[in-house]
Amino acid sequence: MAKIRFDTLDPSSAPLVDASVTLIVNAFGDPERYSATRVARELQSDDPVFYRQFFVAMEAGEILAVGGVKAADWASKTHILYLSAVTPERRGKGIGRALIKARIEWLEKTFKSGRILVSAAKTRRFRDLGFVEIRNSSLDGRHLLLRRF
Ligand SMILES: CC(C)(COP(=O)(O)OP(=O)(O)OC[C@H]1O[C@@H](n2cnc3c(N)ncnc32)[C@H](O)[C@@H]1OP(=O)(O)O)[C@@H](O)C(=O)NCCC(=O)NCCS
Repeated sequence: MAKIRFDTLDPSSAPLVDASVTLIVNAFGDPERYSATRVARELQSDDPVFYRQFFVAMEAGEILAVGGVKAADWASKTHILYLSAVTPERRGKGIGRALIKARIEWLEKTFKSGRILVSAAKTRRFRDLGFVEIRNSSLDGRHLLLRRF
């Protein structure tokens, strides 16, 4: 597979924000929890302390993948991976994994130390990337995982 390049999402680019919102809303399929309004608000938030940073991969003007990372607002130096989506026809080819790696690299470059939290149904990819499962965290088939850096 050709190397996928992730760029940080420019929140002032309306077409890119719209494409990202559509991809996320369709991928999650839970309009109450992941409505277009809420997702757009997340993508465009510019709080300097409780930052949100999104990454996108594009190909020939089409969006392939989007994923976010944000500061937890209840603990310092704590970052949450969230809102990850790959376009349906390109899933299962490593783009999701590359998206996780891009965010870890950005965190390690941007902050001296910290901890990364993620909730996932499938844990192997995260364990391969240095995450450990938090004991007794499984609920409805999802697990919480943690990585220190
Ligand atoms: C989850 C998703 C982002 C994975 O993207 P992908 O390009 O298919 O992932 P890859 O090809 O790199 O790897 C596939 C594997 O890693 C897992 N994975 C990879 N990236 C992931 C991510 N960001 N979040 C959760 N799981 C991920 C996949 O579940 C899958 O597990 P398997 O190998 O045991 O089958 C994609 O399937 C998707 O958009 N799903 C719908 C939205 C969703 O469920 N998002 C995650 C909610 S936290």
